[in-house]
Amino acid sequence: MKTVVVLALLSLVSVEGWLFNEDAEWNDLKVTWGLNQLFSSTVFDSLPRTESDALAEGWYDFSRGAKCEDSFYRGNRYIRDVDPAVMLLFDKNGYIAGIQMGVRKADLPAHLPSDNMKHMWNDDIDMYVITAYFVNPATICTGRSEALFTLAGTGDGLHIQNGPNPETDFELIPRDEADIGATLWTQGECFYTMGQHYWYNVTKDMSCDDFYPVFLLYNSGRLNGFGWNINVYLDSPRYEHPTTDVLDMFFKVIPDCFYDNTDPRGATTQHIYLDSAPSFNFC
Ligand SMILES: *[C@@H]1O[C@H](CO)[C@@H](O)[C@H](O)[C@H]1NC(C)=O
Repeated sequence: MKTVVVLALLSLVSVEGWLFNEDAEWNDLKVTWGLNQLFSSTVFDSLPRTESDALAEGWYDFSRGAKCEDSFYRGNRYIRDVDPAVMLLFDKNGYIAGIQMGVRKADLPAHLPSDNMKHMWNDDIDMYVITAYFVNPATICTGRSEALFTLAGTGDGLHIQNGPNPETDFELIPRDEADIGATLWTQGECFYTMGQHYWYNVTKDMSCDDFYPVFLLYNSGRLNGFGWNINVYLDSPRYEHPTTDVLDMFFKVIPDCFYDNTDPRGATTQHIYLDSAPSFNFC
């Protein structure tokens, strides 16, 4: 039944041409939260979702010689301004397939990433890299059609990679907030322009070695964003730097260990939005 509906929609797309990518629920890909949207080019910055747009906007291939399927990730990788804080993954046909954050080993203290979270970070020569896909990673080296990109937009599911094999080591995140109750994801606070945060398996007396580097954002009961975090100050215009005095805006339960980070510049987070209007994220 579902296949019939999808096929019917696809034929309408190609025959009638009335469906637009902007109509998809995930109709954009923006990174970095900030207050100063009007005056900062990096706040809610819309990233290219096709390889041709990426090239036109100054992104360049950073696949490090690996073919689409010849690495710990899937897709052709692009970077801009020599800044691995955002790396984009495109499928074989040039449609957006995923995103990575790379952290240079030289910028990390010896205890990060912790042994308990090492499975989330793949070793990439001089960097540790964390990866999310917007489509099933096993399909990326076949690629999407224009009709599928139009229909689903940025993608049809958030897959967080949690091991070295991109095709089998991932967690598919529930699209509906109602479905997350059965998991270890725990509700944090709602912050306007961000959304309803969820943190993984967070308790007051936990060790920060167990702090998961991913958080989720739901609005109106639907997944429309997520983000990365690492408990050390890292420098990039793509990062936000929350300090310990604002943690209660994001967490219902704040792990005590967060206060061990006494760097006045804060820790490092990056919000990633899958639709075009984060200003209207009222949870
Ligand atoms: C949840 O966190 C506790 C420690 O706070 C840890 O012992 C346990 O292994 C974690 N569970 C999972 C599934 O990560």
